[in-house]
Amino acid sequence: MTKRYDKAIPFGWYAIDYSDSLKAGDVRPVEYFGRELVLFRTESGEASLLGAHCPHLGAHLGYGGIVKGESISCPFHAWEFNGEGQCTSVPYAKRIPPKVEGKECVPSYPVMERNQMIWAWYHPKGEAPLFDIDDVPELQSDEWTPLDTYDWKINTIIQETGENAADMAHFITVHGNPGMPQGTVEMEGPRRVTDFDSEAQSIDEQGNVDMSGENHDAIHLHSVGVGPGFTFQRFSRMFDVVMMGTVTPINDQTVHLRFNFSVPRKQSEDNAMMATGTVHEIVRQVEQDIPIWEHKVYLDDPALCDGDGPIAKYRKWFQQFYA
Ligand code: FES
Ligand SMILES: [Fe+2]
Repeated sequence: MTKRYDKAIPFGWYAIDYSDSLKAGDVRPVEYFGRELVLFRTESGEASLLGAHCPHLGAHLGYGGIVKGESISCPFHAWEFNGEGQCTSVPYAKRIPPKVEGKECVPSYPVMERNQMIWAWYHPKGEAPLFDIDDVPELQSDEWTPLDTYDWKINTIIQETGENAADMAHFITVHGNPGMPQGTVEMEGPRRVTDFDSEAQSIDEQGNVDMSGENHDAIHLHSVGVGPGFTFQRFSRMFDVVMMGTVTPINDQTVHLRFNFSVPRKQSEDNAMMATGTVHEIVRQVEQDIPIWEHKVYLDDPALCDGDGPIAKYRKWFQQFYA
């Protein structure tokens, strides 16, 4: 098959997994950034992400590797590596060989935990983090519900999934919105802040979306994106829903998209039902986008019209994440 996309993987912070799913001592093989990787949590609780293959004779650390203290021990001959990718022990040798001693002999990735997820910094040339992502108060508060999570593996690239929010006309054709969303998009450095007012199909007290096209609610969307891999959105109607969207490149043709929703714990039953209806509607909408993304091509020089929205502006902004 020919490659549909001819773009490098952009650099940024990317969600790897949920913090509470990785307990101390857990070891997990993962595949992101076109690479095989191993994710583990040390005994003291540090999450670490390394290249999967042991520099000794190439075993995959994620299949049978075990955590020992602050290191992972290879399943083949038990060499140990810490979260910085340095060899900390060769249990049957008198000394650590010079080839690996004191060096990052397994590629390691900067890792942080934020907003209930484990994030890794990817840069194709190994540069240190160039920006930070937001700490979201709602995602660390007992007043908001635990994350309601959805995920998809999609044959597309991040630039395309992000372009969706700048593409005003598709909201009518693909999602059946009654009108074009109206609003502003501000882009500064790695940040993109969007405020939109639109009309959406009404949701009744049972949480059902009214598809008759006759009843509309005003809806406000405030969205903050930082870099290619993180967005936070707040949907405000009579009730609030927040969502952290994460996109992680599996390779240069495929992404892992996650939507993580939370709503206030204390709210009326009617509002809770309507909030659930909103979550289902957002999930339904992305599932309408997926078949378009999976088959389209990326045109460098598209034939845009005056009603299209800030697509060109978005593309210019996104360029900064290609090294
Ligand atoms: S291959 Fe890992 S210790 Fe030998
Ligand atoms: Fe869409």
